[in-house]
Amino acid sequence: MKVLVVGSGGRCHAIVEALSKSAQVDKIFCAPGNAGIAALAECVAIKETKVEELKAFALEQGVELTVVGPEVALEAGIADAFKAAGLRIFGPTKAAAQIECSKQFAKDLMKKYDIPTAGYETFEDFDAAFEYVKAGSLPTVLKYDGLAAGKGVVIAETLEQAEEALRDMLQDEKFGKGKVVIEEYLEGPEFSLLCFVNGKDVYPMPVAQDHKRAFDGDKGPNTGGMGAYTELPFITDEDLQYAMEKIMRPTAAAMVEEGCAFCGVLYGGLMKTQNGIKVIEFNARFGDPETEVILPRLTSDMCQVFCDVADGKTPVIEWDDQATLGVVLASKGYPGSYDKGFVIEGTEAVDGSIYHMGTALKDGKYVTSGGRVMIVVCKAPTLREAQQKAQAEVEKIKCENLFHRTDIGDKAFKY
Ligand code: AMP
Ligand code: GLY
Repeated sequence: MKVLVVGSGGRCHAIVEALSKSAQVDKIFCAPGNAGIAALAECVAIKETKVEELKAFALEQGVELTVVGPEVALEAGIADAFKAAGLRIFGPTKAAAQIECSKQFAKDLMKKYDIPTAGYETFEDFDAAFEYVKAGSLPTVLKYDGLAAGKGVVIAETLEQAEEALRDMLQDEKFGKGKVVIEEYLEGPEFSLLCFVNGKDVYPMPVAQDHKRAFDGDKGPNTGGMGAYTELPFITDEDLQYAMEKIMRPTAAAMVEEGCAFCGVLYGGLMKTQNGIKVIEFNARFGDPETEVILPRLTSDMCQVFCDVADGKTPVIEWDDQATLGVVLASKGYPGSYDKGFVIEGTEAVDGSIYHMGTALKDGKYVTSGGRVMIVVCKAPTLREAQQKAQAEVEKIKCENLFHRTDIGDKAFKY
């Protein structure tokens, strides 16, 4: 079978690797891919959002399965266009992807179907929004209604911070013309529950935890994710059952009811609060860097899972019982501005998996070409062992312009 993976980061590298282990896969294309992915797939220079070009490519090559990584491609309607052309695609339609792309859609859906989440109101007018904040308690959570590349959420501790964020979002339209969802502030450990969904049926993956802040101790600015791990000792079987029965299954059923059945990966960004597990956000795709620690544990045929879910059939999905932990190497300065083109050495000495996030090849050597550059993932029987191994292995990578956190996974033992 010929398959096409759309995207370029560590998440897509992990998907490509999982597909490469399938006996039914003869050829993998990745658009646009990256230097690491190029070792396993033929990279095709088409951007994720160029839906018509991707469709023409898939038709011309006889691609039998396309797997979508990033939300921008979903929002551009890639699943709708491929399906209309009779092409099999793993990923939700534009209407179903609203569960990620519109905060208001997601919040209204949760309210209507009684799915536990933070209380909220939606505003378009700056004055009305600021009045609402002044009448409520602090901290308060302000979410721009639309894709804002991870910068659309502000936790305001003071009225001044809230005012500035609301001006950015509603008056100055820094992210575009939009609305703001103002939410109740919740507290507790966060975790990611990713599920394969083929309309009504929901199949959980092992739960994972991302580390969004740039520096140790959860200090510094929010990033795309600095590391992740599975399993989570603070999430009990009961918690998982609650999350499946009260959140993930009812959400899939609600999407069917609303006429936009979800097909693909439904990502629940959940928080275990004093008052039960609640939804912080939904994503309509694999998480990054969660995917890089989840998929290495899959023992079933990845290609068959994608095909079965896309075809509305019942997939066979099995996982090993190991723990995994991944540490991200990022360019100094990230998530702010950073320089590129620094040579990366020592990757061949690493005993573990390396997924490339932002690299390029120059004169036969890997060089940095993005904010997050690569993630080193190790597997072991216990989380402690996986943590020790990943921390040791990541030190083998030498590059003058990279940094990484040294406390990924520590939180697991502290809750
Ligand atoms: P989101 O983009 O919705 O995932 O939000 C980014 C981050 O902001 C989350 O991972 C949380 O750490 C934090 N956050 C979002 N919503 C809330 C909330 N209602 N209460 C507390 N923290 C939140
Ligand atoms: N790990 C967060 C995300 O994928 O959105």
